[in-house]
Amino acid sequence: MKLLVTGGCGFIGSNFVFHMLESYPDVSIVNLDLLTYAGNLENLQDVTSYGERHRFVRGDISDPDMVCSLISEKPDVVVNFAAESHVDRSIMDCCAFIHTNIRGTQVLLDACRQYKIPRFVQISTDEVYGSLALDDPPFCETNQICPNSPYAASKASADLLVRSYHKTYGMDCVITRCSNNYGPYQFPEKLIPLMITNALHDFQLPVYGDGLNVRDWIHVQDHCRAIDLAIRKGRTGEVYNIGADSEFPNIEIVKHILDRLSKSHSLITFVKDRPGHDRRYAMNAAKMRNELGWQPLVDFREGLNQTISWYIEHEMWWQRIKSGQYLNYYEEWYGSSLGGAATKTSS
Ligand code: NAD
Ligand code: TYD
Repeated sequence: MKLLVTGGCGFIGSNFVFHMLESYPDVSIVNLDLLTYAGNLENLQDVTSYGERHRFVRGDISDPDMVCSLISEKPDVVVNFAAESHVDRSIMDCCAFIHTNIRGTQVLLDACRQYKIPRFVQISTDEVYGSLALDDPPFCETNQICPNSPYAASKASADLLVRSYHKTYGMDCVITRCSNNYGPYQFPEKLIPLMITNALHDFQLPVYGDGLNVRDWIHVQDHCRAIDLAIRKGRTGEVYNIGADSEFPNIEIVKHILDRLSKSHSLITFVKDRPGHDRRYAMNAAKMRNELGWQPLVDFREGLNQTISWYIEHEMWWQRIKSGQYLNYYEEWYGSSLGGAATKTSS
């Protein structure tokens, strides 16, 4: 199977690239990634052992020429991870979210339509559904889309475009919507890696509002296994929710991280709440479980402890991010004379 993966240098995309290469000897991947601040080639350092089965191409999913040149190679499936993914950044400035999350998805869809690509898989999020009250049932695929942040609105727009290309042009499209991920290689601006890395350096841990907002956590490997199934077995035109029934208030997670690292709770600082902060997310993943036979394998407490250990063991990786050094990796790898469209196999 030939895959075109977009955003494969980010957190979930890079985990997915490894999952697919490790699981299937006959899978080859072209990885189109713009290397924004969130894209990091260092996430893929170990991919070299897969030789030409992985090819990295630096480029923008909103660039029709770049996208068409890759889609004309006729991959069997396009999996779209590429996105601006951080809610706080979308509140500061939404432009890049519209450019990548909406316009980029449209460019990919048009190219897939033109070249009759057999399947398009859109990686979406629970945030498109909006917020739940504490006593509401978890989100089902039939829930109304009701996004509250500019990030969520841009992802919801992309989902609606994907739906419309399926309905209007009969394209084979599947949408997955997952809850909050955690695990190795998550950029340290998101809750769990931010709190771990701050605690390790005895920096303050900024908790928004009262700390009682609830998120439904899933290990990135369980997410990747679910996407794998959706690619191979998902029904065309369908949406699949993905979640591991692991709801926790933020403050509980922050306290657990501090306890695990033997750090004082006095590092916790309650700060001004995020505007429009969704109170609770929770996913009903019964369709994924019953139809596709998926189930999460990683227990949250165990997965969180493993993730804390991973950040302790990979301090160089996140220190290079915090210092900005990781941004030089591309030039170090390719030499500074190469332009933005450079491509390279992993070997
Ligand atoms: P991330 O921010 O870690 O990575 C995004 C990647 O996309 C980066 O490598 C970046 O360089 C690349 N990118 C950004 N703009 C691009 C463009 N215009 N062209 C090509 N590449 C571009 O994000 P993530 O956490 O890995 O999330 C991946 C996907 O999963 C996103 O679509 C996100 O909405 C979705 N998702 C994330 C979560 C989560 O908890 N992180 C949960 C559910 C769904
Ligand atoms: P985040 O990791 O940004 O994911 P999302 O907003 O997409 O769910 O945030 C997870 C939760 O943690 C969310 O309720 C906001 C909260 N949060 C903090 O309290 N402090 C922080 O510094 C960050 C980044 C998040």
